[in-house]
Amino acid sequence: MSRQILLGVTGSIAAYRACDVARELMHRGYTVRVVMTHSATRLIAPATFEALTGHPVVADVFDEPERGQIAHIRLAQDSDLVLIAPATAHTIARLALGLADDMLTTICLATRAPILIAPAMNPAMWTHPATQSHVRTLQERGVQFIDPTYGIMACGDEGWGKIADTPTIVEAVIARLSQSESLKGVRVLITAGPTYEPIDPVRFIGNRSSGKMGYAVAEAARQRGAEVTLISGPTALPDPFGVQVIRVQTAQQMYEAVLEHFESCAIFIATAAVADYRPEVALPRKRKRGSRAWTLRLVPNPDILGAVAQRKGNRLVVGFAAETDKVLEHAREKLQRKNLDLLAVNDVLEPGSGFEVDTNRLTLLYADGRVEALPQMSKRACADALMEQVAAMYQAASKAV
Ligand code: PMT
Repeated sequence: MSRQILLGVTGSIAAYRACDVARELMHRGYTVRVVMTHSATRLIAPATFEALTGHPVVADVFDEPERGQIAHIRLAQDSDLVLIAPATAHTIARLALGLADDMLTTICLATRAPILIAPAMNPAMWTHPATQSHVRTLQERGVQFIDPTYGIMACGDEGWGKIADTPTIVEAVIARLSQSESLKGVRVLITAGPTYEPIDPVRFIGNRSSGKMGYAVAEAARQRGAEVTLISGPTALPDPFGVQVIRVQTAQQMYEAVLEHFESCAIFIATAAVADYRPEVALPRKRKRGSRAWTLRLVPNPDILGAVAQRKGNRLVVGFAAETDKVLEHAREKLQRKNLDLLAVNDVLEPGSGFEVDTNRLTLLYADGRVEALPQMSKRACADALMEQVAAMYQAASKAV
């Protein structure tokens, strides 16, 4: 059976371009089902899409093209991908807010399929802080944008806001569909964030990890169809969409949670900055200030990654390394000592890399000796590059079995 694309058409002058997109997708063998907003139906007739696609167009929440079927649930569940092209600022805002006030937004809330958005609007509207903030919100939830291009608009204004051309949109759909299959149903276990080791009820030993890198890896894995469990130390980040999140405080708690989920995972990725030591005794009450020096005795925490990698079987085990000097030398030593398949190292002293910031520069070291230096880019882009490699390794290993 051919794969189904749900094409959402909204009220932009570029609505006519959706005809081209629909035709080209059908040419590639996809089934296209069209859902229009009411504004879109004023710009182009639903009958045009019905003739092109051979399927009824849905525009109203109460439309039921197949009797007895709840259309928005059926379309949400049967579609392999949702493409909104063109997408207006208004529809982007409604999606960011999670509104379900028409057929298209209701389907977007009900679907588990990846969502791609090709915006089309006046440049002032596209660059408006409100629109950009909605775009970021949606990107954080895994929605992918096919960026608008620069040009002269129907109104005569010049700038960024023209809908991307048809081949770009179609290629993005194909790439996204193949990506969303690469880890379909594979269980991926990820650690992220810092651990807090209590000194007393108000103080702890911790580190600067924000969790951004690990959460980005969790999102990138989920976007490839994986079933992701994220074991997170304390962070200020919201749970990534569609990911099972287990929150812990200490290294010992993280260790126990990893042990509990390791057996059922196929891929383990340790991005967490686990405290190597903890105070031997956590005081039950707040320690009062004194005038004399105070010695705190620290004892080692379990090496979570090292422990599980020793019994990895045919699982793929990926580590991270935070280094400050002799970066590659130390990373190579960790890769071997911890029995890893892949290690991503970052120099945490380099500006724009490592802890807290939104960007990172990773170098990937493979067990077979290959080294791949990635450029500095957003943590989400780093996570995508890493997961591309992990998915390829997983698929190669599965074929070899
Ligand atoms: O969270 P962010 O602010 O986005 O920052 C991202 C990051 C800098 C934390 C991340 O990119 C990173 O480098 N994570 C690894 C941090 C670390 O603890 O590195 P390490 O070299 O000390 O440890 C090596 C590996 O062993 C890591 O995979 C770590 O998760 C694991 N480990 C370490 C100690 C321990 N007791 N148990 C472990 O599992």
